[in-house]
Amino acid sequence: MNKIRFGIIGCGLMGREFASAAARWCHLTGLDARPEIVAICDKNRAICDWYTVNFPAIKQVTDDYRALLANPDVEAVYVAVPHNLHREIYCAVIEAGKHLMGEKPFGIDKPACEAILACLKRHPSAMVRCASESPFFPAMQKIGELIDRQAFGQILEVNTGFLHSSDLDPNKPIHWKRVIELNGEYGVMGDLGMHACHVPFRAGWFPRNVRAILSDIVKTRPDGKGGTVPCLTWDNATLFSEVIDPATSEPFPWTLKTQRIAPGQRNNWYTEILGTKVSVRWSSVNADILEILEYTGGEQAWKQIQTGHETAFKTITGDIFQFGFGDSILQMWASFVHEIAHGTPLRRFVGCVTPDEAAMSHRLFTAALASQKNGSTEKV
Ligand SMILES: NC(=O)c1ccc[n+]([C@@H]2O[C@H](COP(=O)([O-])OP(=O)(O)OC[C@H]3O[C@@H](n4cnc5c(N)ncnc54)[C@H](O)[C@@H]3O)[C@@H](O)[C@H]2O)c1
Repeated sequence: MNKIRFGIIGCGLMGREFASAAARWCHLTGLDARPEIVAICDKNRAICDWYTVNFPAIKQVTDDYRALLANPDVEAVYVAVPHNLHREIYCAVIEAGKHLMGEKPFGIDKPACEAILACLKRHPSAMVRCASESPFFPAMQKIGELIDRQAFGQILEVNTGFLHSSDLDPNKPIHWKRVIELNGEYGVMGDLGMHACHVPFRAGWFPRNVRAILSDIVKTRPDGKGGTVPCLTWDNATLFSEVIDPATSEPFPWTLKTQRIAPGQRNNWYTEILGTKVSVRWSSVNADILEILEYTGGEQAWKQIQTGHETAFKTITGDIFQFGFGDSILQMWASFVHEIAHGTPLRRFVGCVTPDEAAMSHRLFTAALASQKNGSTEKV
């Protein structure tokens, strides 16, 4: 078993999810490589105790990411820090000759993302990818297979999105994801948008243009210290784009929604593809259900497939059992580790977001900002 020694920079919410997935690696069967976490870095030292208690292989705990990158034992790094730090730390990881799993939006803005890609061009041997979990749900894997088989016929429309209600409560104190300097001008698009772009981009569905409606709904928030501060980020975004399907050369509309203020939702991804031959819809609200309509003339009927635990990377869990968020994280990390070990993804839709796909999302979100500002349709 090839052991890949990892460092984590940013040990908050997502750092812990990776560490937990690494601890559960025995759940996967048939992989010939596995991660071992040997170093962690966070500005908040208190957060590191959970790691050192649970991960005996950790030999380095530091609040200086440069010290972690100077550690020759570290081969690959997961960076999960606020967006204003992506450019600096991602470039430092690549320049240190380590593999990088970065987090979205992969740079706080388009210039930051371009700087990361330029750095990668100078150091092409690093395996660099961006995190995004939803394609690893079994239903999304089945959708990927349908795209591979060009089963949809002519695509009529695609709707993807990521809906949260995390900011529905106006009395919730401001978080860094609601602060432009830390999260970026994109607001909710930078926070949630990559997830809704991953499968369309992997399918080769690149937007030619965009008309965006962005909403700043909650304009002030408690600062958590008894005061009130402005909350200037976009809370919700609806993007309407024209895409040419490379399979048919025909255009179709793609609507992408990202919302922090979506009543009734908690943390839900959805994908809907309507085609002349096959249509599908899936939402993580009912993650085990893929709805599919195959039209061959005559009656139209949606059928429901329970997708169970039929995963891209096999596990000890029986196919009949349900799949959840933690499982999607494990599958995503299996994909990254597999790609480090083998140089290619298992299949087209079993791969993490590439730097080029991340750059495409920045072109889309930057055009969306211009569209909102000018009330126009913008080229992407
Ligand atoms: N893939 C997903 O599903 C998903 C979900 C949530 C967040 N994210 C992304 O993950 C990243 C981190 O988000 P989070 O929710 O884990 O945030 P978080 O606030 O929970 O954790 C960020 C951590 O970074 C640390 N940090 C800040 N500056 C640092 C520095 N200079 N050096 C070292 N550590 C530093 C903080 O102390 C904190 O512990 C963001 O890019 C976010 O968009 C991804």
